[in-house]
Amino acid sequence: MTVMLRTENLAKTFTLHLQGGLRLPVLRDVDLEVHAGECVALAGPSGAGKSTLLRALYGNYRADGGRIWVRHGGEMVDLAAAPPRTVLDVRARTLGYVSQFLRVVPRVPTLQIVAEAADGADARAQDLLHRLNIPTRLHAVPPATFSGGEQQRVNLARGFIAGHPILLLDEPTASLDAANAEIVVGMIRDAKARGAAVVGIFHDTEVRDAVADRLYEVRPQQDAA
Ligand SMILES: Nc1ncnc2c1ncn2[C@@H]1O[C@H](COP(=O)(O)OP(=O)(O)OP(=O)(O)O)[C@@H](O)[C@H]1O
Ligand SMILES: [Mg+2]
Repeated sequence: MTVMLRTENLAKTFTLHLQGGLRLPVLRDVDLEVHAGECVALAGPSGAGKSTLLRALYGNYRADGGRIWVRHGGEMVDLAAAPPRTVLDVRARTLGYVSQFLRVVPRVPTLQIVAEAADGADARAQDLLHRLNIPTRLHAVPPATFSGGEQQRVNLARGFIAGHPILLLDEPTASLDAANAEIVVGMIRDAKARGAAVVGIFHDTEVRDAVADRLYEVRPQQDAA
């Protein structure tokens, strides 16, 4: 089995400078390994650090301990120690991330937002938007006025279009009805079938059971005195 992503003793503590430097340990000793074609679901109570772990894996939060090995091209790169240029290259070619909420530059049409994530692949963007039930008439409209579920589907199209070998998904079906959630389940299964490694947070247990091969428990850390 090909290891696509592996963390070693990953740690993250937030320091709240506006609260007199209060330290909030969130992640400690996270050892996570994900193989090609496998989906690991992050589990644990609200506030345990699931989203923090996903953001750390994407390099959004700088880890303050440990390693994040990512298979990038033919080699393993430690994202925790990589310079910003390498992090950007890993995101462009290897790591896809679907955040819970869509954040985009205002006034850019939906089709362009999706196509830009794959070097302007308009036809593929159209297909993907249709698969996600975003009708053609909305493709020319910027998504700012879209419903929560429509925005989430645009976000999913943007995250899946490039066919990244590793996908990080933060509650990708949270705003979707059952029919659209089922479509996303199909997309995640297709990604696994082509060999993608998936790390996801799925509050919907039906979705989770349909895509996850195993769970990784994120444990809440004790307050640092
Ligand atoms: N940027 C930040 N600065 C300070 N604290 C943060 C930051 N991001 C997250 N935290 C804290 O880290 C802890 C974990 O948050 P996180 O969002 O990772 O939880 P979660 O497991 O995803 O929860 P949920 O299931 O509710 O989404 C929380 O106590 C949160 O307040
Ligand atoms: Mg979360």
